[in-house]
Amino acid sequence: MIYEKLLDFPKDFLWGASTSAYQVEGAWDEDGKSPSIIDMYEHPKEYADFKVASDHYHRYEEDIALFAQMGLKAYRFSIAWTRILPQGTGEVNQAGVEHYRNMIRACRKHGIEPVVTMYHFDLPWCLEEKGGWNNRATIDAFVEYCAVLFREYGDEVTYWLTINEQNTMILHPGAIGLPKGGKLPSRKELYQQNHHMMLAQARAMKLCHQMCPKGKIGPALNLTAMYPATCDPADSIAAHNWEVLRCWNFADVPVYGWYHPLGWRYLEDRGIAPEVLEGDRETLAGANPDFLAMNYYSTATIAASRGDASDVAPRAGDQQIMLGEQGVYRPAENPYVGKTKYGWVVDPVGFRSTLRRAYERYRLPILITENGIGAPDTLEADGTIHDQYRIDFLRDHLEQIRLAITDGVEMLGYCPWAALDVVSTHQGYAKRYGFIYVDRDEFDLKELRRIPKDSFYWYQKVIAQQGKNL
Ligand code: BG6
Repeated sequence: MIYEKLLDFPKDFLWGASTSAYQVEGAWDEDGKSPSIIDMYEHPKEYADFKVASDHYHRYEEDIALFAQMGLKAYRFSIAWTRILPQGTGEVNQAGVEHYRNMIRACRKHGIEPVVTMYHFDLPWCLEEKGGWNNRATIDAFVEYCAVLFREYGDEVTYWLTINEQNTMILHPGAIGLPKGGKLPSRKELYQQNHHMMLAQARAMKLCHQMCPKGKIGPALNLTAMYPATCDPADSIAAHNWEVLRCWNFADVPVYGWYHPLGWRYLEDRGIAPEVLEGDRETLAGANPDFLAMNYYSTATIAASRGDASDVAPRAGDQQIMLGEQGVYRPAENPYVGKTKYGWVVDPVGFRSTLRRAYERYRLPILITENGIGAPDTLEADGTIHDQYRIDFLRDHLEQIRLAITDGVEMLGYCPWAALDVVSTHQGYAKRYGFIYVDRDEFDLKELRRIPKDSFYWYQKVIAQQGKNL
């Protein structure tokens, strides 16, 4: 669609940026925090671990002041369950509660809207030892944890995100590390875990509406539009298969209260449908998210399945690299899009498509909670970081948000990944995302100095001009 006039970004658009607790905080065992699965899983030895990360736990005041200098109107961060309830349930750790209260207040002091993710991959290890998300007791534990957050911060936080990228945890369980011994759960177990997370999420949303009358809550999924590799109708069916199984089967449940019809049929057909107990459907119904949070990095291009093992690519994948599934889809190349150094498709126009499709399906305002480009930034001898590739990436994606707004998509804000450098889930500090450079190497912590990159000054200008001159 070519418009006569583009609409502006809304006046109260949340120009923000994101992080997650375990990827920035460090202080992994301080002030009463217990280990999470992230602390206990195996990660590649050649990259930084999460013990110190970017030391945000100790430096959040300095960091939030820098975010304010950049002009941020929102900061999306996650709360570590293990700081609030070190035993997963039961006794509340006041040091943890105070820490996040101070962070929320530091944001407010600078006019920054805190956007709180309650769970970003870091299940308490003590709960994992009791079966983790396989165990229905974890649902109650999550709801108990959320109740503490709503009680403690309900007056000061408006935007809540339930679970970050549940679809990544189910479809790419190895993305967040490997359990000792390297054995991942079976697909049957994963979809049972998924069902339990869905129940936990629905209960958390209902509880938020009861306990925080001003609160708004939504799921945060990794969404990706799929293109058919050709106009062969069989490719189109395959692209739809995978778009449903990767995206909508996860987003339909919080919004509509049940799985996508094709998604559910697939689970039944493969013998991996979860056990559904009496009352589960009622729990899932009527959770009424207030918005949809979306992490968007790339699109995928899909060809028809050949129905044999050759559908699956013989290489390592991650949350953005589609590997294929026998009888469902085959990954295909797209000559019209770029790729990052790590093989992630760069497709700003696909962002607009994904936004349109998500809005069309759910008619909920959309908050972008991740989008960005990982790169090995270089700190020059004069202390500058010239990350023009990041500026290009973000500008191109913001242009597409503006087009999507003009298309009629209701957008709440944009919180790209990441506010400052974080430990990447796969490549430590070799792959950076931040607007602010954190001066450390994989193993040499140096002074962890904060240095604004070129993208920091670019984003500052974009925000000051309300995105008018990208
Ligand atoms: C998202 C996660 O899937 O991708 C983040 O929510 C993650 O936690 C981000 O860091 C980028 O992935 P990676 O592997 O490059 O760090």
